[in-house]
Amino acid sequence: MVEVLRSGQLSLGPMLERFEREFAGWLGVDDAIATSSGTAALHLGVRALGWGRGDEVILTPFTFVASANCLLYEGVRPVFADIDPETLNLDPDTAAAAVSDRTVGLLPVDIFGYPSEMDRFERLAADRSLGLLEDSCQALGAVDRQGRKVGSRGNPATFGFYANKQMTTGEGGMLIPASAGMAARVRSERNQGRAVDMAWLDHDRLGFNYRLSDLAAAVGVAQVARLDSILARRERAALQYRELLGGIAGLGLPHEAEAPARRSWFVYPVRLPVGADRAAVIAALGEAGVPAKAYLPAIHLFPHLRELGYREGQFPVAEDIAARSMALPFYGGMTEPEAERVATALDTALKG
Ligand SMILES: Cc1ncc(COP(=O)(O)O)c(C=O)c1O
Repeated sequence: MVEVLRSGQLSLGPMLERFEREFAGWLGVDDAIATSSGTAALHLGVRALGWGRGDEVILTPFTFVASANCLLYEGVRPVFADIDPETLNLDPDTAAAAVSDRTVGLLPVDIFGYPSEMDRFERLAADRSLGLLEDSCQALGAVDRQGRKVGSRGNPATFGFYANKQMTTGEGGMLIPASAGMAARVRSERNQGRAVDMAWLDHDRLGFNYRLSDLAAAVGVAQVARLDSILARRERAALQYRELLGGIAGLGLPHEAEAPARRSWFVYPVRLPVGADRAAVIAALGEAGVPAKAYLPAIHLFPHLRELGYREGQFPVAEDIAARSMALPFYGGMTEPEAERVATALDTALKG
């Protein structure tokens, strides 16, 4: 960051290029485009795929709201389909059943860092001539069933670097483009519609200010250098939880990925037994000094998506999971006594 400040180039400078290059190198892809947020990366991805008014795109209701908002920005209708009860990701069969004449694409999300079944979505997309946009904002470092790092399969994919993510730039995101042509368009739209070879104040298309500053990019460069160890520490913390929580009757733990697949540990979500009072459990944990929260709500029930006609009961798996899930405190440096304290408090809260 000091280097950036001394250089006088605080935006669109060499540190941004370095961050993009080093991130792409880590992921094993040709190019990566840094943006001001994961949402901005998704929005530029939707535009780059040419999705617009009157189109429909299929996605999971069990995600962060930005996965649907990026479609709404462009007048695309989000069409939800239910999730797999184990992986909690969009179920390829329900997605296939939701394809209509207006469907132009699929938007799988690697929820809680668990890799989507991209091989099946790619087949569906090829069979029905659909586009694909991967929302991997929670899954940096995850590996799919074919042993490939999430985001490196050649589909446009997005990552997010908000402070709660595996790596952070404070705010920030990344789009992995599917081609050099897509990269040029996205770089232009990121910078108010100014292509890289165009002069200052010269614009040839509609664009946005979705730039990531070089100061934030410097944080990104340092984070990429530590990324393998960050991911390993988070995995160790998750294993510790698995051992400690495994004995709590009825508690649902995160689905285990089968090698070569690997989850990237974003949060540690647990599912309370059917009938447990989640609010009471969260309150009891709070009293014991353990901050936990209900996580995630099913997004089709938010007011602006209800306006499109979505209602309770349409996606029973997602709604059931959303009603019973809870995120426990989780970070890479979590010590065993800390994890034990959470496990004991949760066991007591569930018995109470
Ligand atoms: C699944 C998913 N998509 C998109 C985003 C948006 O990322 P950002 O907050 O960087 O805009 C997030 C962030 O939490 C996310 O979890």
